[in-house]
Amino acid sequence: MTVHRGHPIRGRLNAWFLAFAEDAMHQEYGDRKVSMFGPVPDTVVELGPGSGANFRYYPRGTRVIAVEPNPMMHGRMNAQARRHGIRIDLRHAGAEGMEVETASADLVVSTLVLCSVREPQRVVAEVRRVLKPGGRFVFLEHVAAPAGTRLRRVQDRIHRPWHWLGEGCNLTRDTAATLENAGFSSLELERFDSGMTWAPYSPHIAGVAVR
Ligand SMILES: C[S@@+](CC[C@H](N)C(=O)[O-])C[C@H]1O[C@@H](n2cnc3c(N)ncnc32)[C@H](O)[C@@H]1O
Repeated sequence: MTVHRGHPIRGRLNAWFLAFAEDAMHQEYGDRKVSMFGPVPDTVVELGPGSGANFRYYPRGTRVIAVEPNPMMHGRMNAQARRHGIRIDLRHAGAEGMEVETASADLVVSTLVLCSVREPQRVVAEVRRVLKPGGRFVFLEHVAAPAGTRLRRVQDRIHRPWHWLGEGCNLTRDTAATLENAGFSSLELERFDSGMTWAPYSPHIAGVAVR
């Protein structure tokens, strides 16, 4: 089981930043999230909910199995859950080995998390394991810019400080390939750029994979 302690300074900074950026993320991703989440079941498994940016899109009373290894996130996540009437069932562990029953979930959500997990293939295999047959994995992730582009060269150049500051965030992951090779029965995946096209995290993918 992966349990992070969270860096005392960077962890707090990242938790604060996520909470600070929540309204901007709502502007940027809100409509897309509402349409991808679709009908939200009573229980949602959410990978790395951070400061709880997605809780506003779940009906009050939803139980969220929160797979969040970074304890620096837990305070803001719990506060956001109280605000939106969400019941948190915390798994203080990485999604590489989540303590969630096999074939138990109708919906697993990951937004801006597969960039940060240590072993994305293992996490996606875990997602498949916990989903019921026909269950949905909804994802929204920033990814590598196409090879040979100027933005990709920038991503490569700043990778190390970004990874350090962002507690493991990778700018150059090919998460689409990870999902395509994961063996889901169907995969809808769209590529888009965030509003700030100059930003190193601008290239995104979003979609739904069905077990
Ligand atoms: C950029 S934040 C995104 C938070 C939130 N999902 C959002 O959309 O605002 C990345 C989150 O992934 C979490 N994380 C990092 N490694 C993880 C892992 N192995 N398993 C699950 N979550 C992880 C971090 O603690 C953090 O909360």
